Amino acid sequence: MTDTVIPIFDLRDHRYRSMTPSIPEKLVEPSGLVADTRARPLHDLRISVTDRCNFRCVYCMPKEVFDKDYTFLPHSELLSFEEIERTARLFVSLGVEKIRLTGGEPLLRKNIEKLVEMLARIDTVSGKPLDLTLTTNASLLARKAQSLRDAGLRRVSVSLDAIDDVTFRRMNDVDFAVADVLHGIETAQAVGLAPIKVNMVVKRGTNDAEIVPMARHFRGSGIIVRYIEFMDVGASNHWQMDEVLPSAEVVRRIDEVFPLEAVQANYAGETAERWRYRDGGGEIGVISSVTHAFCGDCSRIRLSTEGRLYLCLFATEGYDLRALLRGDYSDLQVANAIAQVWQGRTDNYSEQRSNPAVRQARAERKIEMSYIGG
Ligand code: GTP
Ligand code: 5AD
Ligand code: SF4
Ligand code: SF4
Repeated sequence: MTDTVIPIFDLRDHRYRSMTPSIPEKLVEPSGLVADTRARPLHDLRISVTDRCNFRCVYCMPKEVFDKDYTFLPHSELLSFEEIERTARLFVSLGVEKIRLTGGEPLLRKNIEKLVEMLARIDTVSGKPLDLTLTTNASLLARKAQSLRDAGLRRVSVSLDAIDDVTFRRMNDVDFAVADVLHGIETAQAVGLAPIKVNMVVKRGTNDAEIVPMARHFRGSGIIVRYIEFMDVGASNHWQMDEVLPSAEVVRRIDEVFPLEAVQANYAGETAERWRYRDGGGEIGVISSVTHAFCGDCSRIRLSTEGRLYLCLFATEGYDLRALLRGDYSDLQVANAIAQVWQGRTDNYSEQRSNPAVRQARAERKIEMSYIGG
């Protein structure tokens, strides 16, 4: 195994460590099932298509770090659509059934519809279409919803942290209006992207007063609001435990106004716990990575814009898959290399977060959310 170790000295200087995965000597035909050291299957591939974003959400890309001097990846570093498609096919042969395009803001990537079209043609091992989705801030959604749908995108998740315009503008920190996000959501709904989920990161003291208003706004619309506990992703978002509002409190506050009941998970390893309104007004979800870690059946792997694989959202090191994609290796060799990486996986950061030594050891080196996606 070749180790490339690049120390990070400046958060604005975008370089993380990576290792090149090795090709196993004995190659086996992918069987559609690969499990890690905790018997967790590989189910969900998240592909970051750009590390850039036109928002500066305070919990994700604070302006003092992501300023004009911040080094984003140069275009020459990015995986091409053909490389992404090849990677996706290899992952699908290993059992992946869901692909989520993320960023930064994925709709900023030029010709993203073309990539969607290429990925939408891939069937899972069991012959079903992929669950192909995308996470967006919706700034370009109204303009692109129809072409994304035509290209084969099935659904979208939209980030929106408040229904109150002043609060939302303060959180995205680029003065973007709630009305424009809502227009994007409506357009996505009109063209048949479904179900639409709205992700709200809850920061105590910043937007927790928006919990019930968000529920009220989206109730009855078919749109599922998911309340996400503020997490210590990356190294620059000034995370503090006292700004985390536990999901139990989110559920309690909504239940007081609109009574709720728990719903079974859609699938093992789902990030969100589901709740529905007792009066039939639809459902909400809570994502409780801080107070109720869900590493136990985490089946997610992440591919960065320049082709590195990350086994955890809180990883500090990736695997340089691009080196293999651009080397003279067959699909069988690369698929086996990926399988070997997954088989060696032990990651469970959220289960260990309460240990100050673990937090400390990673504090300065964790990859940024804008680099790897949600
Ligand atoms: P569905 O496929 O619609 O169920 O969505 P998802 O489970 O893929 O969730 P989504 O990508 O919308 O994630 C919502 C948020 O959950 C992300 O923005 C993250 O904040 C958080 N999240 C997603 N995956 C993980 C994970 O593996 N670990 C942790 N700690 N948080 C995660
Ligand atoms: N904690 C929780 N969620 C976050 N997101 C970005 N940063 C954080 C964080 N620190 C969410 C965004 C979006 C998705 C890409 O990740 O709100 O929904
Ligand atoms: Fe951009 Fe999403 Fe990060 Fe906000 S949370 S800065 S929209 S990548
Ligand atoms: Fe998966 Fe890491 Fe999130 Fe745990 S903390 S659920 S291992 S991505």
